[in-house]
This record gives sequence, C-alpha cells and structure tokens, in this order.
Amino acid sequence: MRVVIAGSSGLIGTALVSDLRSAGHDVLRLVRRAPAAPDERRWDPPAGRIDDGTFDGVDAVINLNGVGIADRPWSGSRKQLIRDSRTVPTEVLAAAVADHGVPAFLSGSAVGYYGDAGGKAIDETAPSGTGFLAEVCREWEAATQKAQEAGARVVLLRTGLVLSPAGGLLGTLKPLFKAFLGGRLGSGTQYQPWISLDDEVGGIRFALEHDTISGPINLTGPTPVTNAQFTKALASAVGRPTSIPVPAFAIKGVLGAMGEEMLLSGQRAIPAKLQAAGYQFRHHAVSEALAAAIGS
Ligand SMILES: NC(=O)c1ccc[n+]([C@@H]2O[C@H](COP(=O)([O-])OP(=O)(O)OC[C@H]3O[C@@H](n4cnc5c(N)ncnc54)[C@H](OP(=O)(O)O)[C@@H]3O)[C@@H](O)[C@H]2O)c1
Repeated sequence: MRVVIAGSSGLIGTALVSDLRSAGHDVLRLVRRAPAAPDERRWDPPAGRIDDGTFDGVDAVINLNGVGIADRPWSGSRKQLIRDSRTVPTEVLAAAVADHGVPAFLSGSAVGYYGDAGGKAIDETAPSGTGFLAEVCREWEAATQKAQEAGARVVLLRTGLVLSPAGGLLGTLKPLFKAFLGGRLGSGTQYQPWISLDDEVGGIRFALEHDTISGPINLTGPTPVTNAQFTKALASAVGRPTSIPVPAFAIKGVLGAMGEEMLLSGQRAIPAKLQAAGYQFRHHAVSEALAAAIGS
C-alpha cells in the first residue's frame, strides 16, 4: 500500500515507518520543514498547506502528531499547544483525505479518552470521561469528521503507555528506578494501560491491512496491570528493589492536574477490537514488554 505518515519523526512514527517498509509498503513522510529526502513531502498544518501531488495514488494516511503531553507543566499556553498540535493537523489531514478520496485514515488518540476509569475493564464501547486529557481526546477524534463524512475508513488509535527502548515513559522512569527511586504512585491501585512498542506498531499495521476494522481501537497490552504491579515489574526488570511509595499529595502538590491525570488516574483498557479481529500480540504480559524494552 502507499501510505502517507504525519508525525513520522516521533517515537511511534519512526518505528512504524521502518516496520511498514519491511512489510513492503511504500511510505511517504510529511515534514514541517523543507524536504531533504525523496520520500518527504512538506506540509504546514497551521496554514493548512500540503505539497501538491502528495495524495496521488495513496491508500491510507496515518496521523501521529502532537507535542509531548507530559514534557512540561500544564500551563494555560501548554494546554492550548497540546490541544492545537493535535486537532489542527488532524483537521487538515481529514480534509485532505476527503478531498482526494483517500480510502483510509488512521488517526491518533489515547486511552485518556476514557478519563479516570477506575478498576472496571473497558473496551472501545466505554463512554468518554472527564478531565483535560479526555476533553483533548474527544476534540482530537472529532477533528477526523471530514474524513468520516467523505466515507473514508477512519480508525481512531486509542493508545496506552508505549513501552519503548527509545524513550517515552521508560526514558523517564528507568533512570529513577536504577537510582533506587522507583516506588508505587499513590495507592498504586490505578491501572496503567501499557503496550509494547512492537505491539503499538504491529496493531497499527494490522488495522491498516484489515479493512474490516474501523472506529476506535484500544492499543493496549492484553493484560492490564495496576501501578503497583507495574512498579514491581519495572523494578525487577532493572534489577532493583521497589522504593517507598510516592504519596498522592506530593504528586498533586508538585505536578498539579498533570500528576493527577497522568500518574494517579488510569484505565483498565482491553484491546477488545484488535483481539476480536485476530491480532496476535507479541507481548502479553508487562514483564515481557519490559524485557523487550530494557533487556532481560
Ligand atoms: N508514546 C505514547 O506512550 C503515547 C501514548 C498515547 C498517545 N500517544 C500519541 O501518539 C502520537 C505519537 O506519539 P509519539 O510518542 O510518537 O510522540 P512523539 O515522539 O512526541 O512524536 C510526535 C510527533 O508529532 C509531531 N509534532 C510535534 N510537535 C508538533 C506540532 N506542534 N504540530 C504538529 N506536529 C507536531 C512531530 O513530528 P514531525 O516533526 O515529524 O512533524 C513529532 O515527532 C502522539 O499524538 C501522542 O500523543 C502516544
């Protein structure tokens, strides 16, 4: 298939481009600067501009844009950027998919859509929750509307916490755990919807290649764990004991709403649609995903 990817320089995008190419797909990358390679096409999301000819013969567009959610404190302007860097590019791509009759649009989202879902197992039929992240995810998903109206197959990639050797969550946590600073967060009963990078990429390629899949899909590992279980598994993967728990009041005091939504809340998200469609996970248990990301 000929596939256009936006956000291809990121953690997921870099791995996805390489996986799709190994599987024989023809990948074009949208870049927000002057193109420097034959497979790059320029776009400017705020201006709504994309190089002419980019969508000729294209079978699918994959959208993985957005500034980091946990990179900086959630000031008013940072929250606006978190929102705009997702909704604006998504609207631009959805309009392009509609205008050029691209058959499929796979667009980013996150399990944050469900808000703080407690201990109940949730599949893709669960309602959206409350909080900033849930609000952003709803707007991000709604920004695909033009593609949906044009009849494209739209897949909403509700991604969990991606466990990767290249950074992301583990890039922050691994050094802390190695320095004997890895303790459970708050009560530790909140779920942490992890997924290995291999399965994130594998799940996206599976959705690309199976045109029976549409709408939201949870990209999360098949065996969800609580924060306490995750903490134990990560400590064991780095060969350290767990340290004393970090109290919830300290997390809220230092990080405010960001700490509350990102660290003290969670979702016991089940990848029901991928499993029903026959996707075979490479990493079933968090310990397997951590071993793949960190080395055992
Ligand atoms: N990693 C996770 O655990 C996780 C979990 C849930 C959801 N997600 C979502 O999945 C998507 C990809 O995640 P990732 O971990 O690969 O993210 P990432 O490494 O931060 O990469 C995101 C990409 O977005 C593009 N981007 C950055 N700022 C932008 C802006 N202001 N406007 C438009 N595009 C911008 C960049 O690509 P270019 O420079 O190539 O344009 C960047 O490489 C994101 O939307 C993220 O929120 C990730």
